[in-house]
Amino acid sequence: MSMPDVVGDLPLVEEILESHRSRGRGDDTGWDGYKAHVYRVINFARAFGPETADADDKLAIATAFHDLAAFDTLDYLVPSIAAQDEWLAATGRQDWSDELALVIAGHHRLRAYRSGSGAVPLVEAVRRADLIDVSQGLIRFGLPKSFVNEVRGTFDAGVFFRRVIPTATLRAIRRRQQPGFLRPRNALTRSSHPGSVGR
Ligand SMILES: [Fe+2]
Repeated sequence: MSMPDVVGDLPLVEEILESHRSRGRGDDTGWDGYKAHVYRVINFARAFGPETADADDKLAIATAFHDLAAFDTLDYLVPSIAAQDEWLAATGRQDWSDELALVIAGHHRLRAYRSGSGAVPLVEAVRRADLIDVSQGLIRFGLPKSFVNEVRGTFDAGVFFRRVIPTATLRAIRRRQQPGFLRPRNALTRSSHPGSVGR
């Protein structure tokens, strides 16, 4: 199993996170920790190879926004999708709005997200990638431990997990017992997108 090279400087990620730095409410160290988590998720997700045109750009955008509003509220999926929609519209990418909303709305799903195509869809790649990092590499979905360690060692997301996401919430996600507000079934409807993400 050959793993992709680790990427750590994607222009879209840098642009989105720098232009939304005020979302960190002055917690610059926390914000940099979030950026590290974003890069970890991108690198894990790329290893699952969601192969569509524009895959890397879509992955970079949805991952940069996926926990964006976690500094403001525990119910952060909907405001994160709203921020993503605003940015997509402002940059002429509104065609990607529904697809990338699904990626954010589905990233805490307990079960795999399946599509008919057989490939790992973007929403499933990001869901797995987030759980790999949140579980501190205990869950790996078949990725080699050495690769997971390399990615985690390259980016220091410690502060994000220690300080920004409340401990009780983290523990619940790691035990896969997250309360309903972390995976609202109506996240798509509430952010004006069609469909339902299910569990
Ligand atoms: Fe995350």
